[in-house]
Amino acid sequence: MVDRIQLPRLLMFLFLTQSFGEAQRMTQDALLMQYIERRIMLLEDRLEKCNQDMNKYVREFRDFRKEITVRLDRLNIYKTEFKNEMEVVGSRIDRIEKDIDYLESLQPTQPCVEVDEKLIEEQIQQAEEKRKAKLRMAADCDLLLIGIKSLKIVKKIGENQGSWIKDPSRDFQKVYILSGINGDVFTEFAGIKAFTESARRKLAKRVTLPFAWQGTGHVVYNGYLYFHRNSTLNQIVKFDIRNGTVKDHMLLQGAGRVPAYQLSPYTFIDLAVDEQGLWSIHAEPDDRGGTIIVTKIDHNNLAVEHSWDTSCSSKGAEAAFLICGTLYVVYNTRHGGRSHVQCLYDVTDVVTTADVPSLYFPKRYGKHSMIHYNPREHQLYAWDEGYQTIYKLITKKKLESRPSF
Ligand SMILES: *[C@@H]1O[C@H](CO)[C@@H](O)[C@H](O)[C@H]1NC(C)=O
Ligand SMILES: *[C@@H]1O[C@H](CO)[C@@H](O)[C@H](O)[C@H]1NC(C)=O
Repeated sequence: MVDRIQLPRLLMFLFLTQSFGEAQRMTQDALLMQYIERRIMLLEDRLEKCNQDMNKYVREFRDFRKEITVRLDRLNIYKTEFKNEMEVVGSRIDRIEKDIDYLESLQPTQPCVEVDEKLIEEQIQQAEEKRKAKLRMAADCDLLLIGIKSLKIVKKIGENQGSWIKDPSRDFQKVYILSGINGDVFTEFAGIKAFTESARRKLAKRVTLPFAWQGTGHVVYNGYLYFHRNSTLNQIVKFDIRNGTVKDHMLLQGAGRVPAYQLSPYTFIDLAVDEQGLWSIHAEPDDRGGTIIVTKIDHNNLAVEHSWDTSCSSKGAEAAFLICGTLYVVYNTRHGGRSHVQCLYDVTDVVTTADVPSLYFPKRYGKHSMIHYNPREHQLYAWDEGYQTIYKLITKKKLESRPSF
C-alpha cells in the first residue's frame, strides 16, 4: 500500500525527473543536429572542391586530346611527305643503278678505285719530282756564300730603320728608298749614281702608294714593288711602279703573327729575291718553335709554290737573305754588335749549316734593319742605322762543298 501523504511528492518527483530528462535530451539533440550540420557543410565543401577539380581535369583532358589530334594530323602529313620522298629517292636509285649497269656494260669491270689511288699517288710523286727537278735545274745557279769581302757605304739618308732596293732584273737600274718602318711614300732614283748625287733633289721622284707598307721587307722585281700592307696580318701587295697601279695581292697564310726576326720587331714578312725568283720569310711564334719559314712565291700570279720549315731560329736574328735557294740568317746582339751568319737552310738540301763556318760582317755600325741579296750583282744591299751599304761577297760552288768520298 502506498502512503497517501507520500503520493503527491512521488508524483511531483516523477514529473520533475521526467521534465529534466526531457530538457536534457533536447539539448543533446540540438548539439547532435549542429554537429551533423557542420559535417554536412564540410562534406558539401569537399564535394564542391571535388567538382571543381573534376571540371579542371575534364578541361585539361580535352585540351590534351585536342593537341594530340593536331600532332597526329601533323605526323600523318610528315608520313605522307616522307613516303613521297622515299619514292622519289627509290626511283632515283633505280635510275642510277640502271646507269651503272649501262656504264658497266660499256666497260669491262675493273677495280677502278685502286687505279685512281695509284694514279693520284703517281701524280703526287711526279709533282714532287718536278718541283725538286725544277729547283735543281735552277741550280745551274749553285752559289754558296763563304765570306763577306768588303763593305761599301753608299750614303746616309732617311731614318734609322728603312729599306733600300735596286731592281735586280736585267733592264732595270732604278734604286728605291723606303725610309722608316711604315709609310706610303717611297723615292725612286734613276740609278746608284743619281742616288749618291741626289743632293740635287730633282733627280729623285716621290711615289705615293694607294696602301701604306709596313716593316722593311719590301723588294722590287721586274718593275714591281712587293710589300707587306700596313695594318694587315699578312697581305702582300704587288704594285706596278711604272703606271702606279696595284697589280695583285695575296695573303701569306700563317705569317704575320710574330716578327720574322726578333731583333727587327717591325718586320713581320721579309721578302727576298734570288736567282730563282721571289721568296718570303716569316717566323713561327715561340710556342711553336720560333723558327723561320721560307716560302717560294710565283711572282707572276702570287701563288705559293712551296713552304719550308727551316731549323733556323728567329731569336737573336736581325735579318736574312736568300742566294740560290739557300737562306742565310744574320744574328746580332740586342744592342748591336758584330753581325754574323750562323744558320743557313738550303731548300735543295745540298748544303747544311755544318758545311759553312760562321760568316762575320765587317764591323761598322750597329744594327741592320734589312739585308737583301741582289742576284744580278751578287752583292748585298743593307740598311745599317740610316746608312745605305753594299757588301761584296765571296762565293764558291755549292757542290764543291759536298764531302767527297
Ligand atoms: C700603319 O699602321 C699603324 C698601326 O696599324 C699606324 O699607326 C700607322 O700610322 C700606319 N702608317 C701609315 C703610313 O698609314
Ligand atoms: C699598267 O701597266 C701594265 C704593263 O706595264 C699593264 O699591263 C696594265 O694594264 C697597266 N695598268 C693600267 C691601269 O694602266
